[in-house]
Amino acid sequence: SETIRKDLPLLGKKVLVTAGPTYEAIDPVRFIGNHSSGKMGFAIADRFASLGADVTLITGPTAEKSTQQLNRIDVVSAAQMLAACKKAFSDVQITVMSAAVADYTPVTTASQKIKKTSSEFSLELKKTEDILATLGKLKTKNQLLVGFALETENEEEHAKGKLTRKNLDLIVLNSLNDKGAGFKMDTNKITIFNKAFEKTVFEMKSKTEVAKDICSEILKLI
Ligand code: CTP
Ligand code: CA
Repeated sequence: SETIRKDLPLLGKKVLVTAGPTYEAIDPVRFIGNHSSGKMGFAIADRFASLGADVTLITGPTAEKSTQQLNRIDVVSAAQMLAACKKAFSDVQITVMSAAVADYTPVTTASQKIKKTSSEFSLELKKTEDILATLGKLKTKNQLLVGFALETENEEEHAKGKLTRKNLDLIVLNSLNDKGAGFKMDTNKITIFNKAFEKTVFEMKSKTEVAKDICSEILKLI
């Protein structure tokens, strides 16, 4: 049987983490993005690496840098993130999907810069594929899948709905109603639900400390 080192409990385990926003191109100079900084995902990836895991970090555009040795894959769009995740997923035991993936992308991307010729302009968008839900369908019994839920109202109901619908093992609820939580901040306040809908509420703390809490909750499931 294998020995588990107390200091490196995830030695030999492969982990996939996603981080950051995605950018959906409108034309060669413009995109639809969001305020995600990537800080939370990078903190989780670094924490897993420091616990001995072999970490693949798939990240959208970000200024963040990892402090650990890991396999970083840079992507831009939701479609690219989906392709990279599908490729990496079957190899890993743990996946944490913390990226803020665009829900909609332009139906067409203009090949030339769009000129301001008309007084009104509207953009047609189509839904992106839900990466987390896709991985939830591919998941086998030896894999753990953890998602996030970013909510502004009926937070707990929405988070539990996503946990079940996407076939997750844990969901990390981020409420934008909590002071000190959210985009670009160095702190976060989370609540975690497991499959039995048991709820663990954490204090507001630095994203580095929040990453430790998330990783410990996942370690409890192994
Ligand atoms: N997610 C994903 N692929 C998408 C959209 C979201 O993998 N195309 C993932 C996010 O990485 C996150 C989780 O789904 O882990 C929840 O994201 P969130 O925006 O809270 O939920 P959605 O399911 O997108 O629903 P809505 O935005 O309508 O609340
Ligand atoms: Ca969304």
